[in-house]
Amino acid sequence: MPLPAPIQDLAHRALRNLRLSVTDRCNLRCHYCMPEREYTWLPRKDRLSFEELTAITAAMIPLGVRQVRLTGGEPLLRRGLDQLVSQLTALPGLEDVALTTNGVLLTEQAGDLRAAGLKRLTVSLDTLKAKRFEDTTRQDLLPRVLAGLKAASRAGFEQIKLNTVLLRGSNDDELEDLLDYALESNFELRFIEYMDVGGAQNWKQDFVVSKDQILERIRKRFGEPIPVETPDYVPARRWRLPQGGTFGIVASTTAPFCSACNRARITADGRLYTCLYGTEGLDLRAMMRQPGGAQLVVQAITERWTQRNDRGAEERLEAQDRGAFQKVEDLKQNPHWEMHTKGG
Ligand code: GTP
Ligand code: 5AD
Ligand code: SF4
Repeated sequence: MPLPAPIQDLAHRALRNLRLSVTDRCNLRCHYCMPEREYTWLPRKDRLSFEELTAITAAMIPLGVRQVRLTGGEPLLRRGLDQLVSQLTALPGLEDVALTTNGVLLTEQAGDLRAAGLKRLTVSLDTLKAKRFEDTTRQDLLPRVLAGLKAASRAGFEQIKLNTVLLRGSNDDELEDLLDYALESNFELRFIEYMDVGGAQNWKQDFVVSKDQILERIRKRFGEPIPVETPDYVPARRWRLPQGGTFGIVASTTAPFCSACNRARITADGRLYTCLYGTEGLDLRAMMRQPGGAQLVVQAITERWTQRNDRGAEERLEAQDRGAFQKVEDLKQNPHWEMHTKGG
């Protein structure tokens, strides 16, 4: 039976893409995301089980969801994640299950994840220099990430992408080297503009390397990139290089894609947010645990999505004297607002 048409928000944006954060914990401390020494963590007992995550996803398919991306924190810290992947890939109507990871635990898990039906994988990689990796993440683990990427290549994923958040004065000198590495390894690299959300406490406009600046550097070194047609609802614009190979740029800071945004996100304890900059979550966990929970969830999400008018990143473009979006004291009170809780 064909699925019903997706629900639409006030700006006629369909619900299509769901980001499931399976844990708020992370085994790295990237300075642009988790700069603090101490964090308020979500209580472990509040975490949704794999069965609950699958049931919520199943309930959202008739509303329009076709793609799920597992995120964190670091999703591979959640034990037995391949079992969740198996449950999700078995859902009729779901077209795509993907994962964003920092790669530290990939060597151990790549094979099982692939066997469970995961086809696409994105690994964060901001530097190829071991000392810089340690300075950026507070862990000396670059060799493990690179080994994890090799293991993922061997496991036969259909697509492996790399995410590089470029910060001026930190890692922007590696732009060309990172792209060379990705092209040689057959990974699609996406450069990400530094966003001012959540833990990005030290955010300043000066640190942002913009899409236009990235393209200029690539033009000088690799020749004129040729735009590749991409749907307007995905964050990355893509280009092909004259020598072959593709790359992308996620320009959420200078050229947001809010007008086409089709994403909802759910935190590890079951709060639904309809914007990365959103501050009002909807507690699906409490609903799910009542009798007839799935139906309550469907009603509540439908109400929330059809009333949605978010355009968080576009609003930030209009902000005067732009700095960090949220204060560290507020994040400690409201850990759901952290990027590592909301799932990036
Ligand atoms: P696919 O579309 O499945 O390829 O994945 P993705 O690019 O959405 O996922 P990924 O986890 O790799 O996210 C890459 C970057 O996109 C993040 O670092 C964010 O900077 C940005 N991003 C992801 N989701 C959102 C969003 O909802 N809003 C905005 N403004 N930026 C986002
Ligand atoms: N700006 C842009 N990207 C960020 N990420 C984390 N914090 C930020 C930020 N302030 C990225 C991670 C990961 C993705 C899910 O989000 O590097 O690749
Ligand atoms: Fe969507 Fe909000 Fe991101 Fe804009 S900032 S693309 S509305 S999640």
